[in-house]
Amino acid sequence: MNSSISTHRHGVKTVIVPAAGMGTRFLPATKTVPKELLPVVDTPGIELIAEEANALGATRLAVIVAPNKQEVMRHFEQFPNLVETLTARGKFEQVEKVQRAGKLMTPVAVEQARPLGLGHAVGLAESVLDDDEDVVAVMLPDDLVLPMGVVEKMAAVRAELGGSVLCAVEVPRDEVFNYGVFDIAEIPADCDLPAERVKRVVGMVEKPDPADAPSTLVATGRYLLDRGIFDALRRIEPGKGGEIQLTDAIELMIREGHPVHIVVHEGKRHDLGNPAGYIPACVDFGLSHPTYGPGLKRAITAILAEHVVDDEIESARSPEPAALR
Ligand code: UTP
Repeated sequence: MNSSISTHRHGVKTVIVPAAGMGTRFLPATKTVPKELLPVVDTPGIELIAEEANALGATRLAVIVAPNKQEVMRHFEQFPNLVETLTARGKFEQVEKVQRAGKLMTPVAVEQARPLGLGHAVGLAESVLDDDEDVVAVMLPDDLVLPMGVVEKMAAVRAELGGSVLCAVEVPRDEVFNYGVFDIAEIPADCDLPAERVKRVVGMVEKPDPADAPSTLVATGRYLLDRGIFDALRRIEPGKGGEIQLTDAIELMIREGHPVHIVVHEGKRHDLGNPAGYIPACVDFGLSHPTYGPGLKRAITAILAEHVVDDEIESARSPEPAALR
């Protein structure tokens, strides 16, 4: 690909999509189906990411895949026989659905032979970049950040303050132990950005005790990284879990004076990486769906009523422990 960086409206040509993880939290489904292909209603996470990358104005989707997860790339193929059959049957809406992913982005596969960590996966994408790319976006396909468009806001912060920009969401303090938490400082008062939504990052703490957490702003799966990240990734040692961690490389850059900021996202976030986040995402998308929404709402209302009755029966059956009487 040789289109100039200047033709990309936010200066981002490549979106890196790490999709080579083992998906252990989704076993047994992920024995044969990559988690990036699990549908949110009817659209797999990888296509939702392609849509977000397309909206950003990027042209290359560098998908990091494992040797046994090539089906992820097949999702972008043309499927001529299927298209022909559907066309012959007049199913034009379905034809559109088959062709959509391939029209959104041109994917480039980068193989990660072994799951050595998110940082390792991102580092491999350097091989597909052009010389004029001074920044890359990373979008994790198991993280939905809605409404789409946060990376555009992150690009505006980079244009003003330089460096790398990450996306943060606010969580209740008692939940911070699940996340990478930002240690932050204020941005200069005279800069032209909303100070309540843009902060400078001075450090990151992985999964802290709530009492020790430096803030309640946690990392999400959207990164706008200066090209220097690849050099930093080469210089770090394996970290937590023996894996090359992207956050360790970002921390190294911060320590060396590289400016890193966050944009605090005010919308929604769904973690598709485990059933506890995936199921609510499906419910949320399903309820908003013009075809399935109304019926789903009735079904969920009935299911909830059933569960309330079950809970009442259960609590009537189990008498209060003597100590509480
Ligand atoms: P996760 O840790 O959420 O994904 O990594 P995982 O490893 O597939 O999940 P579990 O913990 O086993 O259930 C975040 C993203 O980074 C990718 C994953 O595919 C996911 O999109 N990843 C992670 C890689 O591409 N390579 C790796 O070595 C690790």
